[in-house]
Amino acid sequence: MEGSSNQARLAFWSPKYSVRVQRDITLAVTDLTDRRNLRRYRYREAFIRYGRATPMATITSPTTTRVLNSTLARKIMSADEAAALIQSGNQVGMSGFTGSGYPKAVPIELARRIADANFRGQKFQVSVFTGASTGPELDGALAMAGGIHLRLPYQSDPETRKRINAGEMDYMDIHLSHVAQFVEYGFLGKLDVALIEVTAVLEDGRVVPSSSIGNNKTWIDQAERVILEVNSWQPAALEGMHDIYYGLQPPPNRGPIPLVRPGQRIGTPYLELPPEKVVAIVLTDSPDRNSGFKAPDQASKRIAAHILEFLSWEVQKGRMPTNLLPLQSGVGNIANAVLFGLEEGPFEGLTSYTEVIQDGMIRLLKSGKVTSASATAFSLSPEMLTEVNANMASYRDRIVLRPQEISNHPEVIRRLGVIAMNGMIEADIYGNVNSTHVMGSRIQNGIGGSGDFARNGYLSIFMAPSTAQQGTISTIVPMVSHVDHTEHDVQVIVTEHGLADLRGLSPRQRAHLIIEKCSSPDYKPLLLDYLNRSERLSYGKHTPHLLTESLGWHNRYLRSGKMRPQEEN
Ligand code: COA
Repeated sequence: MEGSSNQARLAFWSPKYSVRVQRDITLAVTDLTDRRNLRRYRYREAFIRYGRATPMATITSPTTTRVLNSTLARKIMSADEAAALIQSGNQVGMSGFTGSGYPKAVPIELARRIADANFRGQKFQVSVFTGASTGPELDGALAMAGGIHLRLPYQSDPETRKRINAGEMDYMDIHLSHVAQFVEYGFLGKLDVALIEVTAVLEDGRVVPSSSIGNNKTWIDQAERVILEVNSWQPAALEGMHDIYYGLQPPPNRGPIPLVRPGQRIGTPYLELPPEKVVAIVLTDSPDRNSGFKAPDQASKRIAAHILEFLSWEVQKGRMPTNLLPLQSGVGNIANAVLFGLEEGPFEGLTSYTEVIQDGMIRLLKSGKVTSASATAFSLSPEMLTEVNANMASYRDRIVLRPQEISNHPEVIRRLGVIAMNGMIEADIYGNVNSTHVMGSRIQNGIGGSGDFARNGYLSIFMAPSTAQQGTISTIVPMVSHVDHTEHDVQVIVTEHGLADLRGLSPRQRAHLIIEKCSSPDYKPLLLDYLNRSERLSYGKHTPHLLTESLGWHNRYLRSGKMRPQEEN
């Protein structure tokens, strides 16, 4: 059985085939949801083929070493049978964080049911809550089927992004640390179903989590019924890496979280699973999304170098120990490049308290530069995944995966004194940061955990190249077109041109420093001109602005495709 499912996995997940399958599903769902386009109905077959592909990557034999509890083993069924237990209008808490540990078989079957229902003219939608971003089999398939009513809290799927920005899907972008408690406090209504990928179910019914934890504890605790996907692709050796804390009570009974070191364990490696809630178990053998990272480019390397120099300076000033304070590093290529930079830097004995373990962090753990790392998920390239799987025992002692309500908890981040380093879309001259919206209205991904770490960290650093889209956009602007992190939560801004340390500065001092250190030479004169005129003409002189011009750069880009005025091009 293992052999044949492995073959199926290879057949379905070679990059080439995966692209073809994704194209088929796109065409099929588009077709099924567009009644005017019936001549393309033949593509429905392609979708059904894709649906059938999933069982090929799904083990249906009831005898498995991954479900050891005999009562629960009786709940094993196929993915389409399990998907039939989810009804239109349900709120479903799904596992998944940065493309790891998300359910891969049931969401596809659910998307197929939804597409079929829509084709018959019956509206079928569910609300999908996750840890963070997932993969094409979940966000991609459900979005293509038009199956998501409300999505939260963070996504990075192209199809989902398209639907949200077309106004076809509601999306609620909230701090990752808030999600679990919003559901526990009842702010988001009843959670009907928890759909969770796990590594194994033990004899006593407890569960070994998968490559991410996210909100899984909360989903299982709060949902009326639970569907598990037991994925034998996930290494059994993950057992023991997790730390699930069951001590958080709702206010007024909430006590301190007893976590004082990044690598400390305060809970249990297993998720508690009330057996009576389990309505289905589906056996899968499918890989996580595992996208690769771009090799760091010149701009990323220079950003990393500025940050390393700044951290060395902080140590010299006696504001940080020689092994720094726990590092948090955001998502994306630049964050990864900073971790690569640390590999060559002077710091030893580092620790990390972050939400995602990317390739750069594994390299630091491998080289011994980082001694322990705490997160809620992995997000690794295929090559790095091979490295981790081959040496899981060694990494298990140094990596702790926690629920995101703990990995991102303000209390713990503040206590540990985390150095928060996150990417941004744009910053303005006063230090307000936009992490989420292109031109003020198109969502890119979401705020993720950047707000949790920036507001509560010892230091909050935001970084980006000084321009985007081949230089047509300046990432340093007079006024951000959307605010995620206010000037009060941003201490350092870095681009390839330099680093602006904003601590202790008034708004006007900050503006001069940001323009001086961070802006691209192509935009610096324009920014200085704006600031100088604002300082003379603004209504108030504390945070000078010319309101008729402050968003003019964005407006010009939307009209002409360039932020610079025509005569400047
Ligand atoms: N205006 C318009 N588009 C912009 C832009 C700007 N100011 N800045 C970046 N972009 C575009 C890029 O051109 C790129 O577009 P493309 O996909 O068409 O090439 C896209 O946004 C992504 O930019 P990239 O430079 O590849 O950034 P990244 O991978 O470093 O990600 C963020 C940057 C801000 C999108 C990412 O860090 C993010 O989602 N942050 C919010 C969540 C977060 O911080 N999570 C971590 C918390 S622990």
